[in-house]
Amino acid sequence: MKVPFYGHQRQYLSLKDEIDANIQAVLMSEQYILGSTLKKFENELAAFTGMRYAIGVANGTDSMWLTFMALGLGPGAEIITNANTFFATASAIWIAGCTAVLVDCDEKTRCIDSDAIRRAITKRTRAIVPVHLYGQCAPMDEIRKIADEFGLFVIEDNAQAFDAHGDIFKVGELSDAVSYSFIVNKNLGTYGDGGAVSTNHAYLDDRIRTLRNHGSKQRNVHSYGFNSRLDDLHAGILSAKLKHIRAWSDRRIEIAAQYTESLGDCDFITLPYIRPGYRHVFHLYVIETIDPADREPLLAYLLLNGVDAKTHYSIAIHQQEGFPWGKDARLGGSLANAEKNAASCISLPLFPEMTEEEIQYMIQTVSAWPG
Ligand SMILES: Cc1ncc(COP(=O)(O)O)c(C=O)c1O
Repeated sequence: MKVPFYGHQRQYLSLKDEIDANIQAVLMSEQYILGSTLKKFENELAAFTGMRYAIGVANGTDSMWLTFMALGLGPGAEIITNANTFFATASAIWIAGCTAVLVDCDEKTRCIDSDAIRRAITKRTRAIVPVHLYGQCAPMDEIRKIADEFGLFVIEDNAQAFDAHGDIFKVGELSDAVSYSFIVNKNLGTYGDGGAVSTNHAYLDDRIRTLRNHGSKQRNVHSYGFNSRLDDLHAGILSAKLKHIRAWSDRRIEIAAQYTESLGDCDFITLPYIRPGYRHVFHLYVIETIDPADREPLLAYLLLNGVDAKTHYSIAIHQQEGFPWGKDARLGGSLANAEKNAASCISLPLFPEMTEEEIQYMIQTVSAWPG
């Protein structure tokens, strides 16, 4: 039996009529860039997230650096983020010309450690970028307190946690802006690249809208800007999918609960930890081998037995060869937890369209690891 990591084709077939209709509508409208379908999706996204504004951009990476620029962050500004995240979180900081300050993650959740943030603050610190890693929110209430104390911006990297929330907060409530990636493999993903920013600040909405469109609000009139727009075709696809995201998140949560219940006796791994009251939407179900030396053999065994497991991310940002490639970066204290996470993580297949047979096979295969 084979258990794939993603179910893109299954999901498309389950929504084919809605998606095809939206694609057709864009094709017939002749509005392919900054058209009415994009506007409609931006409004739907703002409504779904409970925020005033949403701006569609070309991808998640752009959504972050455009926000940094719109906030006036550039050379000299230190931005604190996770050492254990996808490369793009750090690269967005560099693209804006800022200094990336990488800090450790929490021992259990693997989200950013708020004490580590506090220890890494200097007089050059201007912003914090907590990553809602694997589908679980960072402790935004603790981060908000630190930001208020030191007068810092907070930009949430929400590429992995669409439809998640904390115990006493919603995404976006305790920050200046939220960044989204809609690359195909995300919980809400298009067939290609896409991204967005949501915010409650009118000035940020206006700045990012202008920056994403060659610095132009009016034909032939330009200020400083770039080309980073979410195409209407992608907006149409996302619009069709947005209606189903809550059900898909719920299904992810159910499958994760099944894994957690069934794998509890495997003494060679730790399972994902959910903070009480948090809605963890399991973009990824990441286990860690207790002994890092077991990671590669377990991964090889899973692949050999048809389970398409992966690693997110087996090399932390500061461990990449050549880091930081002449860019401005600083390690904000010990990164021991991030390094243990990188050395021992394995992501098991988990997607809403998985069959019960696939789920059971996945569980049996992990449980039967001969060690
Ligand atoms: C945590 C995180 N941040 C940023 C990004 C960048 O998004 P994109 O690939 O759309 O540029 C991704 C995913 O790709 C991600 O997982």
